[in-house]
Amino acid sequence: MTAPIVRSLSELRGMTQDWVRAGERIGVVPTMGALHDGHLSLVAAAEKICTRVIVTIFVNPRQFNNSEDLANYPRTEHEDARKLERFAVDAIYVPDGDQMYPGGFATTVSVSGLTEVMDGVYRPGHFEGVATVVAKLFAQSSASDAFFGEKDYQQLQVVRRMARDLDIPITVHGCPTIREIDGLAMSSRNLLLSDRARVNAPLLFEQMEEIAEGVVAGGDFAALRTAAVKRLEAANFTKIDYLEMRAADDLALLNASMRPTRLFAAAWLAGVRLIDNIAVGG
Ligand code: PAF
Repeated sequence: MTAPIVRSLSELRGMTQDWVRAGERIGVVPTMGALHDGHLSLVAAAEKICTRVIVTIFVNPRQFNNSEDLANYPRTEHEDARKLERFAVDAIYVPDGDQMYPGGFATTVSVSGLTEVMDGVYRPGHFEGVATVVAKLFAQSSASDAFFGEKDYQQLQVVRRMARDLDIPITVHGCPTIREIDGLAMSSRNLLLSDRARVNAPLLFEQMEEIAEGVVAGGDFAALRTAAVKRLEAANFTKIDYLEMRAADDLALLNASMRPTRLFAAAWLAGVRLIDNIAVGG
């Protein structure tokens, strides 16, 4: 089924008003396009429990703290629409910058606490951009359910907090990270990896698994971390922004796995910043 591409909010509202009136369950899958199997797993999850599904594609300038990164972000609308054909998608919402941020736009949604660590430190302003655009997409889509990947786990927790704090009547579903056969977490940014860098990229996940297994077996996190960093550096990872264990709910820093814990990493390989996270134990 080819879903209609909707470029204006008024057109989207025209559709969703009827659906809301008919008591339909509307699911929204917010994306920045360059769709891969990770995104498609979110669409499949939405399709399962919702009667209407909206996929949004908007490369949100407000969440990029680096103009080169924004310019290089892959844009593949035609292929994206084709990949969605096998799903029961009712609308692909592709607003332009003026639709999303008309002249005079002056509001920023800011979530404290959760955004003050990891990517909040390394990408200043990123989560304000995410929270603002996601709040708008929730309002614009009239969705009852929203689907996000655990690949961006910090983002997922920020979005959950934002929806709860602003009393937005939406259920935020976190869906498991989808990986390539060699373990690399699927990401639109993987398209930017050179062939050579792509060969080394799965080492990040491998080393994270080694740390997590070591911690569960009673090993010392700091020592396991040091060994992993050495191996990553030997494989041309140039900079590790962070490689740390945190509580799964409030993202508090941990040295041992005492409560539901995740291991988070952000690392640079040949000019591409890879992020990943996995559960430690359970
Ligand atoms: O995860 C993403 O692709 C983006 O951060 C999101 C949630 C679509 C907001 O622009």
